[in-house]
Amino acid sequence: MTPVLVIGATGHVGREVVRILKTGGHDVRVMTRDRNGADDLGVAPGEVVEGDLRDRASLPAAVEGIETAYYATPDPEDNIVMLENFLASAKPAGVRHVVRLSARSADINSTDDLARRHGVAEQVLERSGLEWTHIQPSWFMQMMFGYAPGGRMELPGGEGRIGWIDTRDIAELAVKVLTEPGHDGKCYSISGPEALSYGDLARIMSEATGREFVYVDMAPEAYRERQIALGNEAWSVDLRLQLYVNIRAGRYGGLSDGFEKAMGRPATAFAEFAKDCAEDLVRQLDG
Ligand SMILES: NC(=O)c1ccc[n+]([C@@H]2O[C@H](COP(=O)([O-])OP(=O)(O)OC[C@H]3O[C@@H](n4cnc5c(N)ncnc54)[C@H](OP(=O)(O)O)[C@@H]3O)[C@@H](O)[C@H]2O)c1
Repeated sequence: MTPVLVIGATGHVGREVVRILKTGGHDVRVMTRDRNGADDLGVAPGEVVEGDLRDRASLPAAVEGIETAYYATPDPEDNIVMLENFLASAKPAGVRHVVRLSARSADINSTDDLARRHGVAEQVLERSGLEWTHIQPSWFMQMMFGYAPGGRMELPGGEGRIGWIDTRDIAELAVKVLTEPGHDGKCYSISGPEALSYGDLARIMSEATGREFVYVDMAPEAYRERQIALGNEAWSVDLRLQLYVNIRAGRYGGLSDGFEKAMGRPATAFAEFAKDCAEDLVRQLDG
């Protein structure tokens, strides 16, 4: 059995992809820029390859002998170059199918940078000549682990609603796509079962944990200043701010039944996530 290559294995979804692949008895190869970061993934040292998508010379060792790859990265300005570097190594190595983590908003014509970049990346992959599958999730429930330091969720989201999805669900779908035939050329747009505002999230997290979470709607400019002061890079803060403008305007409230159709069960509800992950949520209250 050839291993499944996981790029972005130390990320929110990738680490769940690795966990589910290993639980299912599949062979895995993890690519990371620093093998020490893979210590908590539950993989053997021989299953880890160091590689950097910005360094083409580092990629042949990662793709050698691989047929199927999961691909996720953050969204810096050169993310298309990173994807092109990967594809340029993957194709001659005989990689057959790439499953890429995109976003529900992906749209090559969007004025929103993140949505446009995902749209462009999807097109680059589709034109690569390899088999492809796009996974387009809504926002991750697991972002809540760091959104409310001290219990205060201070974000510029207004009353906007989002169809939050559990990263464990995204990974379950990704593993199905990676390990079963029939997903070439498919695009899975997936959300959780309910559209919830940040106020709703704070209430549900409070109920699930017995601790107090509050949502404070923050002015976008004040949010930007704070994020920069915290040391976040300007490109990343500005990408997020564009998203918050859209959230405030209620543009991300739409739901999709793509997960239930693909997996034959409903996606995880936020209340269930909050109960399962109560300890992780509470950690940010205490320190
Ligand atoms: N957050 C959300 O709510 C949300 C919603 C929808 C879609 N998305 C999309 O999800 C994607 C991010 O996925 P994620 O949150 O699971 O990942 P993540 O937590 O942002 O982790 C990023 C991963 O990318 C890898 N990486 C970064 N730079 C790299 C490089 N130069 N070479 C090789 N690997 C590199 C990192 O690996 P190492 O550090 O180990 O090298 C890490 O595992 C983004 O495209 C985002 O737009 C996010």
